[in-house]
Amino acid sequence: MAHLHWSNDLNTGIEVIDGQHKQIVEYINRLNDARISGDRHEIGEVIEGMVDYTLSHFAFEETLMSDASYQFLHGHKKIHEIFVSRIHKFHERFAAGEEVTEELHALLCRWLFNHIRSDDAAYVGAVRGKMLKLVGEKHEGGWLSRSLSRFFA
Ligand SMILES: [Fe+2]
Ligand SMILES: [Fe+2]
Repeated sequence: MAHLHWSNDLNTGIEVIDGQHKQIVEYINRLNDARISGDRHEIGEVIEGMVDYTLSHFAFEETLMSDASYQFLHGHKKIHEIFVSRIHKFHERFAAGEEVTEELHALLCRWLFNHIRSDDAAYVGAVRGKMLKLVGEKHEGGWLSRSLSRFFA
């Protein structure tokens, strides 16, 4: 499978979230490059970096949804959890010497764009509503940077 390419319909309209999603796409593409070159060390590093980054992204999203009192937060969290445990299983198999990269890459390609287009798109109204309210109160920057600094170094 070739590289993933960003398309405009993936934009949520929340700039900070779009930036994070693009970063995850970047990891998936790096995983594909490492798979083609067959460099196991690089594959391991990319998987670990991607897992770390994705966990931070999920935690950040969950904070935004929670602060916005998003009604489907619980279900969205569950979807994140299930995904993370699937990826951990792939990582374990990889660490045990199994060849999983192609299968993992295919799952990531399918899952990410699907999740962005359906589950993430669904919280945008609530989160943007909260943001716009804060813009009126001139606190949006503070709220976002406080949330960001909790999850991203
Ligand atoms: Fe997301
Ligand atoms: Fe999400």
